[in-house]
Amino acid sequence: MAIRNIVTDSDPQLRKISREVVSFDEKLHKLLDDMRETMHKADGCGLAAPQVGILRRACIVETGDFFIEMMNPVILEASGSQISGEACLSVKNRSCLVDRPTYIKVEYFDRYGEKHIKEVENFAAKACCHEIDHLDGILFYDKEYSDGKRGRR
Ligand code: CO
Repeated sequence: MAIRNIVTDSDPQLRKISREVVSFDEKLHKLLDDMRETMHKADGCGLAAPQVGILRRACIVETGDFFIEMMNPVILEASGSQISGEACLSVKNRSCLVDRPTYIKVEYFDRYGEKHIKEVENFAAKACCHEIDHLDGILFYDKEYSDGKRGRR
């Protein structure tokens, strides 16, 4: 495994739409292993392939006992609302409130190309939404929550 360089939001790569994963091969496994090691080193709880400069629809989330590797993820259902602070390994010195679902049902492929459907809740659901957004070039602060009273900072 190897630590990969995490690109920051000054890099236009992070705004591109990633392409589907089509080869569930050794190269993908190496990428996923490297992403996990890179995420651990950076003390994060999720990472998407475009954050290490690979424009493919692959992302990982790890929080507590929860660990998931998702290729070509699609959110089939979402419900509930949790408004909480978010940050990102690609965004230095910035965090803001984001409104995320408390429940999602997500379809994805694992590293071997097997399709799964999983229900994810609470913090893990928020983290999955954040990482899946990266695959479409969306960053958390694009979705900054404002209650209309306090306004934007
Ligand atoms: Co992020």
